[in-house]
Amino acid sequence: MNNFTFINPTKLIFGKGQILKIGREIPQNANVMITYGGGSIFRNGVYDQVKAALKGFNCIEFGGIEANPDYDTLMKAVSKANDNNVDFLLAVGGGSVIDGTKFIAAAMKYKGECAWDFMVDQSGINDLELVPMGAVLTIPATGSEMNNSAVISRRSTKEKLSFAARANYPVFSAIDPQVCYSLPKRQISNGIVDTFCHVLEQYMTYPTQSYIPERFAESILVTLRNIGPKLMEDNSDYDLCANFMMCATMGLNGFISMGVPQDWATHIIGHELTAIYGLDHAVTLAIVGPSLLRTMKEEKREMLLQYADRVWNISGKSEFELIDEAIDATQYFYERVGIKTHLSDYGIGDENFDEIAGRFSRRGWNLGERESITPDKVLEILKGCL
Ligand code: NZQ
Ligand code: ZN
Repeated sequence: MNNFTFINPTKLIFGKGQILKIGREIPQNANVMITYGGGSIFRNGVYDQVKAALKGFNCIEFGGIEANPDYDTLMKAVSKANDNNVDFLLAVGGGSVIDGTKFIAAAMKYKGECAWDFMVDQSGINDLELVPMGAVLTIPATGSEMNNSAVISRRSTKEKLSFAARANYPVFSAIDPQVCYSLPKRQISNGIVDTFCHVLEQYMTYPTQSYIPERFAESILVTLRNIGPKLMEDNSDYDLCANFMMCATMGLNGFISMGVPQDWATHIIGHELTAIYGLDHAVTLAIVGPSLLRTMKEEKREMLLQYADRVWNISGKSEFELIDEAIDATQYFYERVGIKTHLSDYGIGDENFDEIAGRFSRRGWNLGERESITPDKVLEILKGCL
């Protein structure tokens, strides 16, 4: 097991009706800015619950944070927050709103000329002064409600970058599984695949005799395997939704990464596909993930064999067959929960492969748990996505 330091300061407030309790988590005299997305919170009752919980607070609002939150939109929020002396941010939404709010929290006090710069050169990332924030989660997927990462897009330059300032965790996150009832099927598919892929990024590497985090990871994968297709049929079952939400939060809050190596190449390559083509985040993962596993199967051999056995119950075959069938099962699972897994399904060809590999070359990035995914390997993975 590798050395690790673990901290997760986010207070989780989980269950039916729990959004109404958030008022007690925010300082009484705070100037609060509520941030939200395109308006789903007005249609599903979440906004009304938040307003009831914040009765008596001094609040302003900033709406319109888009899926894959955009730098230019967020900078408008930064101005509004600073003009109104905001000192507490409350994100009400999914990963995009929560990530966007983490960015606002960091950009509000940023002294440099252009806030994008702290994501390009992250050497000062832990020195950023952060405005405290809380979250009301409305969609299980990213784990942003209980981690310190954020992914921000800049449409004007077709870029998408992530950053993680050490202290940029929500102070609290309220999670009421009933928010899942209003989710469109597309977002349920996205949440299942994103969560599954988060777990694989932290699990499908090489063995370090880290039995506990491996079993934690497998418990999430098996749970998603079992409940994913059921959720696609029925997202009004409270316990299915509660387990789904717990999978998503536990999948990316540090619990399963203790002591183990991490990959994240599927995500990093996927971010380029979102930046260039606007594909949903989870769609990019469903496309890149299986191809990456096929390309890297020698390096991931031991964990693929363990995965075949413990997650997909495949046994009694040659190693070669076990590995191939486990990867096929993963791809079939993504398709079964509603996401097509080839670039051609979206009318995309190889026209930008060189540009993507070139971006990694220019940034000097080699990806994966062994940093063995060179720009040439990225090209090979992308060719396997067609
Ligand atoms: O904008 P509104 O109107 O609220 O609608 C949203 C949006 O259109 C809708 N939605 C959310 N909750 C709903 C709902 N509709 C009905 N009922 C509800 N209860 O769903 C749409 C997608 O929302 P979004 O927040 O974009 O989804 P998600 O949570 O999947 O977030 C995706 C973003 O998170 C980043 C992704 O790259 C992407 O930008 N990620 C963040 C991570 C992190 N912070 O750790 C890790 C992830 O790997 C990921 O990269
Ligand atoms: Zn993700």
